[in-house]
Amino acid sequence: MKHFLKSTDFKHHEVEEVFSLAQQFRKLRGQQVPSVLDKQSWALLFFKSSTRTRVSFEVGIHELGGNAIYLNKNDVQISRGESIADTARVLSRYLHGIIIRCYDHSVLEEFAQQGSMTVVNALSDFLHPCQIYADAFTMAERWANGGSLLDSLKGKKIAFLGDTACNMGNSWMLGGALFGMEVALAGPPAFEPGSEIQSTIKESGIEPSWSFHTDPMEAVKNADVVYTDVWVSMGMEDEEDERLETLKPYQVNQKVMEAANPDALFLHCLPAHPGQEVTQAVLDSSSSVIFDQAENRLHIQKAIMAVLAENSK
Ligand code: CP
Ligand code: NVA
Repeated sequence: MKHFLKSTDFKHHEVEEVFSLAQQFRKLRGQQVPSVLDKQSWALLFFKSSTRTRVSFEVGIHELGGNAIYLNKNDVQISRGESIADTARVLSRYLHGIIIRCYDHSVLEEFAQQGSMTVVNALSDFLHPCQIYADAFTMAERWANGGSLLDSLKGKKIAFLGDTACNMGNSWMLGGALFGMEVALAGPPAFEPGSEIQSTIKESGIEPSWSFHTDPMEAVKNADVVYTDVWVSMGMEDEEDERLETLKPYQVNQKVMEAANPDALFLHCLPAHPGQEVTQAVLDSSSSVIFDQAENRLHIQKAIMAVLAENSK
């Protein structure tokens, strides 16, 4: 059974297939596409809030001819103590796939281990792989010039500013290496990448391509993309005051964008907090591609599910 828990779960040729399918799905929006999930039911089990991920997956499953079932954690017996293992075994008797948004990444791994349905990571505290695939696709569509989408990412530099130790920072460290991109992280010393993500990169066998900086201007020098994420991720609310203070020097503003390459793109996974991690002016600027990123969640996730469904036949 094939799962998508981290960006490196797809091999190079599968990533190429995902990108190429996403491009077709984007062009065919509103038209009939192959019903690759025909007669299939996929559930979304969410332990955290979501706007983009939930809606893009539900719409995507519908557009591929499948049936989507949304389950908030309070809707299922897990909230009353039923084990993940039993839940995974039971749901596998009904479903072809499950898309999970959770805190501890081990919940995804346990579902994959104990169940017999496809598991997709819709964000954990550790990684958000669907997001960076959509992001990379958004960049590649601008850079490929009719050539290979994946190859167009090679050698490009992304600067990630702010909460470098969060799921998005981790995802870029791993995904950047997979896509052949240079990843410059900039954050306070305490936000230096943790050992878990470093081990995951090592285990993937892909050459690491990241560097960590405390000076944001150093990180954005020669950057083709400037990326940021919220300073207070879901589950970190207790640290809000401290984080808003510590991360202030890492705000993406006009001065930061001017220090990157002249045609650098600005990306943010959203939701954004204007005035905190990024200014409203940057969000609204011509460099900003945030709404294309959000739209591409739909196309890329349809492609991810199509490739997983094909592999699970
Ligand atoms: N970027 C993202 O995953 O958004 P949601 O939390 O709204 O799903
Ligand atoms: N780091 C953020 C990403 C939201 C899409 C969070 O986990 O809340």
